[in-house]
Amino acid sequence: MRTRVAIIGAGPAGLLLSQLLDQEGIDSVLVERQSAEYVQSRIRAGILESASVDLLTKAGVGERLAAEGMEHRGIYLQWPGERHHLDFVDLVGRSVTVYGQTEVTKDLMAAREAAGRPAFYEASEVTPHDIDGDHPHVTFVDSDGSPQRIDADVIVGCDGYHGPSRQAMPQSGLRVHERTYPFAWLGVLADVPPSTDELIYAWHHDGFAMHSMRSHRISRFYLQVSPDEDIAEWSDDRIWEALSTRLGAGDPDWTLHTGPVLEKSVLPMRSFVTSPMRHGKLFLAGDAAHIVPPTGAKGLNLALADVALLTRALTAWLHEGREDLVDQYSDTALRRVWRCTHFSWWMTMMLHRRDEEFDAQLQLSQLRRQVASESAAAELADNYAGVPIGY
Ligand code: FAD
Ligand code: DHB
Repeated sequence: MRTRVAIIGAGPAGLLLSQLLDQEGIDSVLVERQSAEYVQSRIRAGILESASVDLLTKAGVGERLAAEGMEHRGIYLQWPGERHHLDFVDLVGRSVTVYGQTEVTKDLMAAREAAGRPAFYEASEVTPHDIDGDHPHVTFVDSDGSPQRIDADVIVGCDGYHGPSRQAMPQSGLRVHERTYPFAWLGVLADVPPSTDELIYAWHHDGFAMHSMRSHRISRFYLQVSPDEDIAEWSDDRIWEALSTRLGAGDPDWTLHTGPVLEKSVLPMRSFVTSPMRHGKLFLAGDAAHIVPPTGAKGLNLALADVALLTRALTAWLHEGREDLVDQYSDTALRRVWRCTHFSWWMTMMLHRRDEEFDAQLQLSQLRRQVASESAAAELADNYAGVPIGY
């Protein structure tokens, strides 16, 4: 089989790339290790920056997002005894939208199917070849067990942190920057209407807690736990008690509504940046090249921004033979990646409980500053609502 762009991984990055390339008249083929149902049901991110909303709308998948997405003007920041609203619209003129990654993925999959663009799900042994040469191609075994080969002008690795694309780059030329954190999140999806109109980020002596949502009926929560936490230790009752204590501490008149827990899992936290994001005819986008800790909701948005930049670059290259944008892709993408890596690290370090009381006092001082100083609040708002895609 021959196509112009072979895309490894059909998460949000791969799916959006195939959609945007299609709009430019460029053929692509997606190769994904999991089934479509599995990819669709993975519960992950929930917040879209305004630039991501614009991008998805331009990509032609904005209809349900506009109808069902919940636009938020800002967030609440709290610590024991105090809850404060930061209004991003007042501060920097941009909002964010609550719309689950599951829904973004469903919309992009529906668009792919409607357009009849080819995708191979449940592919195994997916491997990029000849990324330095004139015949780049991807080999894999399809869901029927038959060997397949896709020849392409370009291969794009959108295959997440564990995928084969980054491994296919000459390791001697790769620089990897990494940080692990001494905490993790217990993520909880619950069948209960949110107890807040906008997200609450809570500092607490027992550990960080967050109240998010997926709709007017479904709530999403996170609790700081240890990276080696045994989820079996967390009964639903214990979860609700911890959420109620940590989230309730900011406002004595506030009540947390409880309900059936639909899903719970422990999420590790890591910062990871690979540079460069291109070698020869192989390009990386999204989690294949970088991971941020989830505090600040940047992971999905960064993946979408990479794809926007890469579409522009590949279009100039494949249509006009112009190589300037593909040559600049890695540097341009990494500038934004490092901005978001810093913001996610900073939010994580400000909000998660560490052992030393000295750290706690620094964190509380920083939190008070965020709400007392308009310039400090605007800096947080500008990063959270999202820096421009070409930052
Ligand atoms: P992915 O969504 O990881 O997609 C990669 C795709 O490649 C997958 O479908 C995978 O199956 C496929 N793949 C992997 N290996 C192969 C292979 N060998 N061959 C073919 N295909 C392959 N971000 C936030 O902003 N907020 C959150 O709350 C949040 N929660 C998260 C929770 C979890 C458990 C995880 C893992 C991530 C979370 N993130 C969150 C990050 C966010 O979900 C990611 O940044 C986003 O999914 C990146 O999209 P992507 O398309 O680059 O990668
Ligand atoms: C969600 C996840 C985040 O990491 C975050 O900062 C805000 C919201 C969410 O899953 O809803």
